[in-house]
Amino acid sequence: MAVKPIEWLGNRIKILDQTRLPLEEVYLETHDYLEVCTAIKQLVVRGAPSIGVAGGYAIALGALKIKSEFNNIFIKEYQVVSRTVAATRPTARNLFFAVERMDKVAGTAGTVEEIKQALVDEAVKIHNEEAEATEKLSDYGAELIEDGFTVLTHCNAGPLATTGYGTALGVIIRAKEQGKNVSVYADETRPLLQGARLTTWELQQAGVPVTLITDSMAGYMMSQGRIDCVITGADRITANGDTANKIGTYTLAVLAKEHNIPFYIAAPFSTIDTSLKTGDDIPIEERNPEEITHFQGVQTAPDNTSVENPAFDVTPHRYITAIITERGIIREPFHEGIKRWK
Ligand code: MRU
Repeated sequence: MAVKPIEWLGNRIKILDQTRLPLEEVYLETHDYLEVCTAIKQLVVRGAPSIGVAGGYAIALGALKIKSEFNNIFIKEYQVVSRTVAATRPTARNLFFAVERMDKVAGTAGTVEEIKQALVDEAVKIHNEEAEATEKLSDYGAELIEDGFTVLTHCNAGPLATTGYGTALGVIIRAKEQGKNVSVYADETRPLLQGARLTTWELQQAGVPVTLITDSMAGYMMSQGRIDCVITGADRITANGDTANKIGTYTLAVLAKEHNIPFYIAAPFSTIDTSLKTGDDIPIEERNPEEITHFQGVQTAPDNTSVENPAFDVTPHRYITAIITERGIIREPFHEGIKRWK
């Protein structure tokens, strides 16, 4: 990976500002966990696995700043830090996966100094594990890509979103590294253009031919026989395989079924939430209306226009051909595969 979306510098974090890409490569460097929380909320760091990794480091930074040497005071202040980090974004499971792991470490025996060090170590471990998982799942997923395939993807599920190899883009990049001739249609991904800004940028760097389309062109491309499969990432997958991902993913899945095109989800197990039975239980983030009424600060809709801005939708598992994970490829019945490998 040419750029590092998140880097731990021993006592502070360095984050590549994804809102400024592709035009500027700007980094945020901070000791302040609240700044990391703001960065997560504002999508400076984004994509489910990257949100989880940033969340882990944010908790470690917050813990390092706690002054008391008394365990009972430390844990009280720690809980404020942990809850603040958990409240940044509601949909990506990876954030809560990281928070739960950090909370477990915070509750172990030891002096406050020892617990602080253990929290830093755990955050680094989460980071390494997420990166490793995406590399493994890319190997499995590449088996599904045939020579000459054109793949449609939505949003951005590459190295920036994962701090590793990427999920959907990892699969595509690995297929290309295997010598397969693979090309991509990238949805621009309204309203914040993660596809137009980030997916095109990453695929160009990886040498994968990429053509940018608006979200509403996907059905036409499918009807013209120009797409061999669809691969997207995921923000949360429930016990039955239902999957939340960037708004617009559900539309693609329904269209893919109509056109007999395989629809794949690529995600590490840290995205799978077996505490939720179905996608109906997934909290869907509602974001600022200005993301719709304005474009890069310029107003594009009349004053007082009523807006809904759900950032994610849920694709029922019946539309999903397979879920590509670091432990292998899961197909129907998804609940069995998920239970077996979780
Ligand atoms: O709002 P974002 O940009 O964080 O949404 C990201 C997505 O929906 C990605 O597809 C998902 O997190 C998978 S990232 C490997």
